[in-house]
Amino acid sequence: MNQRVLVASNRGPVSYQFGAGGSLTGHRGGGGMIAGVTDGLAALGPETSATWICAALSDADRAVARARNAGPRDEGLEVGIPVRMLDIAPDIFDRAYNRVANSALWFLLHQLFDTPSQPRFGREFRRDWEAYLAYNEAFAGALTEEAVTGEGDLRVLIQDYHLCLAPRLFRDRLGEAGPAAGIGHFCHTPWAPPDYYRMLPDEVGRALLDGILGADRAGFHAERWATAFLDCCAAVLGADVTRTGLAGPGPGPVGRVTYRGHVTEVAVHPLGVDAAALRERARAEDVRAHADALRRAAGDRKLIVRVDRTELSKNIVRGLAAYRELLATRPQWRGRVVHLAFAYPSRSALAEYRAYTGQVRELARQITEEFRTADWDPLILEVKDDYPRSLAACAVADVLLVNPIRDGMNLVAQEGPVLSERGCALVLSREAGAAATLAADALLVNPYDVTETAEALHRALEMPDAERARRGAALAATAAADPPARWLGGQLASLGLGS
Ligand code: F6P
Repeated sequence: MNQRVLVASNRGPVSYQFGAGGSLTGHRGGGGMIAGVTDGLAALGPETSATWICAALSDADRAVARARNAGPRDEGLEVGIPVRMLDIAPDIFDRAYNRVANSALWFLLHQLFDTPSQPRFGREFRRDWEAYLAYNEAFAGALTEEAVTGEGDLRVLIQDYHLCLAPRLFRDRLGEAGPAAGIGHFCHTPWAPPDYYRMLPDEVGRALLDGILGADRAGFHAERWATAFLDCCAAVLGADVTRTGLAGPGPGPVGRVTYRGHVTEVAVHPLGVDAAALRERARAEDVRAHADALRRAAGDRKLIVRVDRTELSKNIVRGLAAYRELLATRPQWRGRVVHLAFAYPSRSALAEYRAYTGQVRELARQITEEFRTADWDPLILEVKDDYPRSLAACAVADVLLVNPIRDGMNLVAQEGPVLSERGCALVLSREAGAAATLAADALLVNPYDVTETAEALHRALEMPDAERARRGAALAATAAADPPARWLGGQLASLGLGS
């Protein structure tokens, strides 16, 4: 049977830049969602076709979107998936993406607000909210066009907090007359409990939940976030919520919400890694060269590695503070350990992110100044994104530090053990979604507790080789158990798509 999958997400699998003389070059989009969807779609059989709808993020993307809208559909051949980029007006996009999605919803869902002063939902926010609605309408419109023009058994996968309204808008547009389409929404972030969620203006809080409940299946990486979503549906909407709970570590349904005559199943689909593909990539020459260079730089010193985008939720500042406390309270590690901290740029349009990047740099400078000796640099902070070097760092790490304040899942915590050559010890925040599956073999920490994190780093550094190798292998096996093909295939199967 002819089967079709439509994916909708803010960031697409390819993004463009202007080069010299106005030429355009495409590069693969970053982030866990892109990796999961791209690899998941690649694993679908030949009977299933896919189209990916995303927003044009830059002027270069807009130029590509306009040229392609005027010509034949050949988008996205760079990643092997047809891509339709939406040329949404820059002001609408800016308000929807930067102001609502990243400044309000990201902070809300990760519980990051500095509440004595933030958030402030005034008139300006109401304008931004209108833009978020228009942005979601643009996606719902494009999905409807694709749905009614193509042929085949259709499933629609809508991604993330940028597109909470799109499932309901799409369902309404399609109406009774349109082709039957199973609709899934997947949120890659945590979800906040009702008391925190209620900080949103009432009408906004209700609209977001109602929007997601336009889907047949609402997915999360961890049971905790799925349960918080059910709690919000009950407390904020007064919806009829049935809880089944998860039988094991997932995937599977945790409950159902009946609202406005429609039933949405709420489920957990943990996203792990394609271990074989990742190891294959790490065997390439560029990664090997970086690994050799890192080993030479470290000498016989132990390496503590972290790899993050510079998100406030990633807790890089407390991670550095824990390393400082380790060196201050456990002087035996001075000269015997190096911390490689990769903190790559993210969302620099937001003042909070620029300020946070400044804090990271400043604390790193202080640590270097305080502890550096003639022949030992305690900390190497790298802020320029370099994927092969990140893989290499994971391969040679003795300890991997992943300490987010809160995280939907966290792929680094899973990629690190898979890539590790000798098995690494994982110091992991209990607030990462990945803690649900990795807890038994990681050293779990409260991400706010700098002293506890410093102690965990110490325990990780002195862990006997055999124990580190054993735990590392177990972590890698757990991460490999939920590859993108299973993550995406499981969602499609739950929406009734055969493989
Ligand atoms: O990590 C959560 C997440 O929502 C991912 O799904 C997505 O890749 C990313 O954050 C979005 O980040 P950005 O704003 O850079 O596109």
